[in-house]
Amino acid sequence: MISAKNASKSSTLTIEKGSQLQDYRNDFDDMLPEFGCCKGMCGLCLIEITAGHEHLGEVTKVEEMTLTSMDRDLKSYRLACQLSVQGNFEFKPIF
Ligand code: FES
Repeated sequence: MISAKNASKSSTLTIEKGSQLQDYRNDFDDMLPEFGCCKGMCGLCLIEITAGHEHLGEVTKVEEMTLTSMDRDLKSYRLACQLSVQGNFEFKPIF
């Protein structure tokens, strides 16, 4: 199990290593960012990664296109709906 800390709310979610963050959106919606399309296209789930960026899965193609169109740095920002998690990390929802 690993920790996903929402630095804006000082709350921490414990999730399974290798899981997709969006899989927890229904059970822990108060700790996670808002989700919209869940396909990496709307950008509503934009988060800033404040620690543990190296523990996150590769940026998907659609995620890269959306982040670029939002003028966001791929090293600091991710889309929560596209995120697979391999280790502890911290994030701040943007919206
Ligand atoms: S929910 Fe639409 S991009 Fe993540």
